[in-house]
Amino acid sequence: MELVDIVIPDPGPGEVVVAVQACGVCHTDLTYREGGINDEYPFLLGHEAAGIVESIGEGVTHVEVGDFVILNWRAVCGECRACKRGRPQLCFDTFNATQKMTLTDGTELTPALGIGAFADKTLVHQGQCTKVDPEADPAVAGLLGCGVMAGLGAAVNTGAVGRDDTVAVIGCGGVGDAAIAGAALVGARTIIAVDVDNRKLDQAREFGATHTINARDLDAVKTIQDLTDGFGADVVIDAVGRPETWKQAFYARDLAGTVVLVGVPTPDMKLEMPLVDFFSRGGSLKSSWYGDCLPERDFPTLISLYRQGRLPLEKFVSERISLDAIEDAFHKMHAGEVLRSVVVL
Ligand SMILES: NC(=O)c1ccc[n+]([C@@H]2O[C@H](COP(=O)([O-])OP(=O)(O)OC[C@H]3O[C@@H](n4cnc5c(N)ncnc54)[C@H](O)[C@@H]3O)[C@@H](O)[C@H]2O)c1
Ligand SMILES: [Zn+2]
Ligand SMILES: [Zn+2]
Repeated sequence: MELVDIVIPDPGPGEVVVAVQACGVCHTDLTYREGGINDEYPFLLGHEAAGIVESIGEGVTHVEVGDFVILNWRAVCGECRACKRGRPQLCFDTFNATQKMTLTDGTELTPALGIGAFADKTLVHQGQCTKVDPEADPAVAGLLGCGVMAGLGAAVNTGAVGRDDTVAVIGCGGVGDAAIAGAALVGARTIIAVDVDNRKLDQAREFGATHTINARDLDAVKTIQDLTDGFGADVVIDAVGRPETWKQAFYARDLAGTVVLVGVPTPDMKLEMPLVDFFSRGGSLKSSWYGDCLPERDFPTLISLYRQGRLPLEKFVSERISLDAIEDAFHKMHAGEVLRSVVVL
């Protein structure tokens, strides 16, 4: 990774330049850097951001200069087959800026998830800006732009967790802990956190986990069953995204229960299982893209809950860093030392 000058064009029709105030370091940025998403280098990383609208292009009506916004990677099109069927959370043709940001020699940059916010300013589509309460701390608010929304939505939207449900969450990083916070928010009865790192399990309790399991010491499936009257959990969320964690999620749920995969597997990963188990155990096996969120619906509400002290979003911010410390933040993420390092600008 390199810290360099970039060129940001004046916003064109429908485009907006946002002065970035804060941007979280997400696992997906690391996956981009390692070529795990695509090979369209050079990338402009960073995508969990909040900031102030600095300038707007022709025809922009959705935001005004000076608005405090969270950036999102689901600016729904309203026209694709999913949007037309009333499922905009699945939109297959989301908007990004049309113009390219470049290096000073003209080389086009690929912004991570169409955002690219490890920068003083970034160019996005107006629909990628969601206006929220300007009293919110940008470092906290920005996290809703990706991982926290993905995890919380995996529980509340995709998994449809509700009052009295039993829930297990495998992998308690920022995404898993957000799933735990979401399950707690909607009144789940039992929330079991599974990780391989005791520090993560201690943090998971702060977000609302009622029980914790270190999968290095205990059989996660059996222990989840034991903690749910021998049946398994109603909803199990895999926030790691590996064949072994997905299998645990599959077998740790009650008959007819739900598995939600929100962790992102790599292309080499394979799964081999008896097909009859899929039939005989019933239920639903889901994947959660961005927590099935609609930024315009979900961000203002979640910011409001946070401001009222009903959703501890501030606990996701482990440290505030400068742009030149991102590489270091990747190491800390790998070593399990942080939930989120947030770059403040
Ligand atoms: N679906 C989406 O829209 C979406 C959005 C953002 C991030 N993600 C993905 O979610 C995943 C988690 O992201 P994060 O930021 O929380 O990452 P993270 O690295 O902070 O957290 C991962 C956690 O999983 C734990 N873990 C690792 N192996 C484990 C195992 N075998 N059993 C139990 N726990 C294990 C780690 O100790 C760590 O606490 C990543 O794959 C990320 O790419 C998905
Ligand atoms: Zn669409
Ligand atoms: Zn992310």
